Amino acid sequence: MLAKLFLELTEYAFFRRLVWKPIYELLARVLPLSEWQFMNYGYAPMPEEAPLELETADELQRYPLQLYHYLASRAAVAGKEVLEVGSGRGGGAHYIAKYLQPNRMVGMDLAKNAVQFARKNFKRANLEYQQGNAEALPFPDASFDVVINVESSHAYGSVPNFLREVRRVLRPGGIFLITDMRGEPGLQLLNEQLKHSGLKLLEETDITRNVVLAIETEEPVKKERIRRLVPKWLVPAFEEFAGVKNSAIHRDLNSRDLIYYRWKFVKSE
Ligand SMILES: C[S@@+](CC[C@H](N)C(=O)[O-])C[C@H]1O[C@@H](n2cnc3c(N)ncnc32)[C@H](O)[C@@H]1O
Repeated sequence: MLAKLFLELTEYAFFRRLVWKPIYELLARVLPLSEWQFMNYGYAPMPEEAPLELETADELQRYPLQLYHYLASRAAVAGKEVLEVGSGRGGGAHYIAKYLQPNRMVGMDLAKNAVQFARKNFKRANLEYQQGNAEALPFPDASFDVVINVESSHAYGSVPNFLREVRRVLRPGGIFLITDMRGEPGLQLLNEQLKHSGLKLLEETDITRNVVLAIETEEPVKKERIRRLVPKWLVPAFEEFAGVKNSAIHRDLNSRDLIYYRWKFVKSE
């Protein structure tokens, strides 16, 4: 309920703009841990989805990384130019650059500290990170084939501004992949905003159950990492934020007070 309440409060644009940036700046500054590469609640695949094979070094990040994999693999990204808006600590953009071989992968985030962390920890020839705002993307018109957005849109002052920008930077035929959570009214609003984005809906999937399963399965790894790496006084708050079992986020997703969706759109004209 707490998590839902917080997300409902953030229905107000001024509140979103006020609270989210300092939170993510602070997290990147006080916890510059190279092992902590993602800030999403993860994904356990559907039975019909092929299991994801990972190098041993990436196994520790399996669940948050799977949220990226099963979203990004809805588009053909090999050889393409891909933009991630809200790339956080950079692990997702790095995964795409490394495993799915785009020609160019750009991770962009509002939080300067998060961008610095990503630049320091992930280096590949086809990967770059840049600071920028989802509501005013610092890229020319028609400069990307795919735009991806993972658990980030709930923090934007104006989602319609963001969607206008996505449409602008996509090439004709370009693909927009987005996944995020909302309470029921927030989900209705987001669906309306997506409907009026000028992008054509190709797929939509309720993945709430997959996220709950990921939280439950990843629990021991997450708890062990938090206890080992996070200062003791921060552990309870961090367990809530990271979403361990019985945290507010886990309870709200489990009871479907919060619903987690993923969508695929095309820029058809
Ligand atoms: C929950 S984190 C998810 C990060 C990453 N996608 C992941 O899954 O690990 C949300 C991210 O969105 C970023 N963000 C919030 N508002 C933004 C904005 N207006 N423009 C760009 N990024 C923003 C935050 O700084 C944060 O890094």
